[in-house]
Amino acid sequence: MGKEKESPVAPQPLPEEDRLDRALRPGSLDEFIGQESLKKNLRIFIQAARQRREPLDHSLFYAPPGLGKTTLASILAREMGVNLRTTSGPILERVGDLAAILTDLGKNDVLFIDEIHRLNRVVEESLYPVMEDFTFYIATGKGPMASSVKLAIPPFTLVGATTRAGLLTGPLRDRFGIVGHLVFYNEEELSRIVLRSASLLSIRTDPEGAREIARRSRGTPRIANRLLRRIRDFAEVKGTGVITHPVAKAALEALEVDAFGLDHLDRKFLRSLVERFSGGPVGIDTLAVSISEEAETLIEVVEPFLIQAGFLQHTPRGRLATRQAFEHLKLPPPGDLFA
Ligand SMILES: Nc1ncnc2c1ncn2[C@@H]1O[C@H](COP(=O)(O)OP(=O)(O)OP(=O)(O)O)[C@@H](O)[C@H]1O
Ligand SMILES: [Mg+2]
Repeated sequence: MGKEKESPVAPQPLPEEDRLDRALRPGSLDEFIGQESLKKNLRIFIQAARQRREPLDHSLFYAPPGLGKTTLASILAREMGVNLRTTSGPILERVGDLAAILTDLGKNDVLFIDEIHRLNRVVEESLYPVMEDFTFYIATGKGPMASSVKLAIPPFTLVGATTRAGLLTGPLRDRFGIVGHLVFYNEEELSRIVLRSASLLSIRTDPEGAREIARRSRGTPRIANRLLRRIRDFAEVKGTGVITHPVAKAALEALEVDAFGLDHLDRKFLRSLVERFSGGPVGIDTLAVSISEEAETLIEVVEPFLIQAGFLQHTPRGRLATRQAFEHLKLPPPGDLFA
């Protein structure tokens, strides 16, 4: 994605956004908007664990970027009343890195491993016994002298986050007691998120302005928050400072975010599928080459929303554009050519 100019609706955080993400991050399950069925279950698991004075079961959250995985991890720690330690798959290069963190955990603490699918094999395997019965084996010596020392770790909760559950190995996935799939947010939920953030940032927004932002945020809170801040600039410079419906619409057009929230890369993807491959089916690698993008980025960032929005289907023979995709690009669907 780096080759493109920064898209206002890219779901990954932009460089300066981490701090703002934190400022807007809900601090409790009550403040966390949407994901109702997941929240309902988490409430029960948290209450039960607290009553038993045990750590919460190991929990895995998977979802495309920006839907609230990191937020939920920190909420779990807060609701359990314990400390949160944060690390990530790529940072834990050696078993020693993991050892340093594990030996520092307090009873029932939450250890959050972001991008857990990127743990290397050796580190991942050393986690298995830790997750099972809080025993950590440290290898000592080499060759025929090799042996290992057993170390007891206080009971804790491992929370893992990944953008795709399918990237995890079976043995790792099976060791999580709670697996939560976060889904894209609907317009009503995103409107509430926009209004909440607007009030935290003292941005004046009317409900119709908030709804327009919600509609074009690719179902993603991080994008909604970003659009809110950018549109504030438009409102202040070109309007009265209030984000009304016309202000939001004009600003979103200026930002080249279309009525469905699709950005340049989404449209490039769909246009290639429709124009070069007659709508498919076509394999993802071929499609990726045709628009000079990484297949991984397309699978992780572009496709989930296009599928959810009804523009794309996965079939056994490859990617297929829907009639809605042709309509959105204002092109006749292939069938109609012969009608
Ligand atoms: N349910 C929610 N209610 C309100 N705000 C939310 C919610 N979920 C996420 N947000 C907002 O969106 C931002 C991004 O969420 P978060 O960082 O948790 O996403 P993520 O899934 O961890 O993304 P990534 O895959 O990039 O790590 C947060 O800072 C928060 O402000
Ligand atoms: Mg995160």
